[in-house]
Amino acid sequence: MDLIKFEEQFLDDILEIEKESFPHSWTSEMFLSSAKNNAVTFKVLIENKSVVGYYIISTASDETEVIEIAVRTQFRRKNFGKFMLADILKEAIAKKSKFIFLETRKSNIPALNLYKSFGFKEIVIRKNYYKIEDAILLKLVV
Ligand SMILES: CC(C)(COP(=O)(O)OP(=O)(O)OC[C@H]1O[C@@H](n2cnc3c(N)ncnc32)[C@H](O)[C@@H]1OP(=O)(O)O)[C@@H](O)C(=O)NCCC(=O)NCCS
Repeated sequence: MDLIKFEEQFLDDILEIEKESFPHSWTSEMFLSSAKNNAVTFKVLIENKSVVGYYIISTASDETEVIEIAVRTQFRRKNFGKFMLADILKEAIAKKSKFIFLETRKSNIPALNLYKSFGFKEIVIRKNYYKIEDAILLKLVV
């Protein structure tokens, strides 16, 4: 597996993974504008020449925020999520972040388990944040 910087040639695969991963999926414009943002690191996970996942993080002052992380459905539970989160941690350290924040739906057990296995702690529950369910904000001290 290989994590490389986003390039436009990966966009169609990313949009496919995005659609199968999130109820309110990002558009191509959102991904492209994110890729142009200097505060953002946008990486694509390649396995056997195919796109199997991606992540987007944003860093400001001493904080890194995980904006997006997703793995193609048929490649889940094969440690790709762990591999990307480990890389996010490495990036956060390189950028001298003191904290990593991220937010997820309360029912997203795979994501919550993944984050907690890296030491993320729940700090706030935002009631009805996603209209129909609560959001959980998690924090990791780097
Ligand atoms: C969350 C996500 C990125 C995890 O990716 P993944 O490659 O399947 O994760 P990994 O195989 O690296 O698993 C890492 C850990 O996460 C947890 N986990 C992953 N899938 C799980 C599941 N279906 N049920 C329970 N725990 C799960 C486990 O603790 C697992 O460790 P283990 O296999 O040693 O038990 C993936 O499920 C996904 O893309 N989901 C849709 C998008 C999404 O919700 N992103 C997060 C938004 S905040």
